[in-house]
Amino acid sequence: MKVLVTGGAGFIGSHVVDALVKEGHSVAVVDDLSMGKREQVHPSARFYPADIRNRQTLEEVFRIERPEVVNHHAAQVDLRRSMTEPSFDASVNIVGSLNLLELALAYEARKFINISSGGAVYGEPQRLPVDECHPIRPMSAYGVSKYTVEQYLRLFDGSGLDCSILRYANVYGPRQDPAGEAGVVAIFSRQMLAGERPTIFGDGTKTRDYVYVDDIVAANLLAMAEKQASGRSYNIGLGREVSDRQIFESVRRAVGAALEPILASKRPGEIDRICLDASLAKAELGWEPTIFLEEGIARTVAFYRG
Ligand SMILES: NC(=O)c1ccc[n+]([C@@H]2O[C@H](COP(=O)([O-])OP(=O)(O)OC[C@H]3O[C@@H](n4cnc5c(N)ncnc54)[C@H](O)[C@@H]3O)[C@@H](O)[C@H]2O)c1
Repeated sequence: MKVLVTGGAGFIGSHVVDALVKEGHSVAVVDDLSMGKREQVHPSARFYPADIRNRQTLEEVFRIERPEVVNHHAAQVDLRRSMTEPSFDASVNIVGSLNLLELALAYEARKFINISSGGAVYGEPQRLPVDECHPIRPMSAYGVSKYTVEQYLRLFDGSGLDCSILRYANVYGPRQDPAGEAGVVAIFSRQMLAGERPTIFGDGTKTRDYVYVDDIVAANLLAMAEKQASGRSYNIGLGREVSDRQIFESVRRAVGAALEPILASKRPGEIDRICLDASLAKAELGWEPTIFLEEGIARTVAFYRG
């Protein structure tokens, strides 16, 4: 199949591209390299260094490629920047996504897989694990922009274009940029391997749900194979709360270090706890996680060790 992956030079997108190429698909990548790296793009994928905000350049890519599937990973991923520059966040995450949606419709793509954030759209959970029926109360402009695009896609789902939305938990694994949305495993790994003491913001009890990047790739492949137009949003996570302190200790074990963390005050705007109920993804897509924390962290640390 002809697949266009946006953000395919980034952390998660590049792993999705590798898997698609491996499965024999014809893959094109759009990425402006603002965060991604050219060398992370699989050599068999055709690379277009383009900004999704630039409608004209994007249309040229669609005219050449005529993708059957659009897999949309490109995004402004910095939560803090989304609050200081919400218009920039919206220009990439909303308008850029709408450019892609309009072109997917105009060039008669069959499927649009959109990436959203389970950590950002729900806000502070009222119950755990959070399922897709949980109220949506984003606490950042990034969460607002991610959810807004979900809403647009539902308006167009089924009009010849099937849309699936994946709401990721905290993704970790090789190639993660420590500056990205949820880079704590990457940050701790790099720092401890360099003999530095990582900083934990807060008292270490803040929790997140960590999902290894290979399981995220599997969710994308399953969403691509989904037959029915669903317009659905699927949580992709393990449903397990893992604290900052647990991540610290797991990375420390994998590195073989004997460092203690520096404790700093909690950062504003961050939720205290979250984990996602992925039962819907299991029932509808057949998705289940296969790599659990210790194994995933061991693989990630091995990558950063080089
Ligand atoms: N990492 C996580 O834990 C996590 C969690 C939830 C959702 N997500 C989502 O997954 C997707 C991928 O995130 P990631 O963690 O791999 O981050 P990433 O920064 O590594 O990947 C994003 C890619 O998009 C590219 N990009 C940014 N702006 C662009 C633009 N205007 N035009 C073209 N390309 C542009 C960047 O260069 C980068 O390669 C994003 O949509 C993000 O919101 C990530």
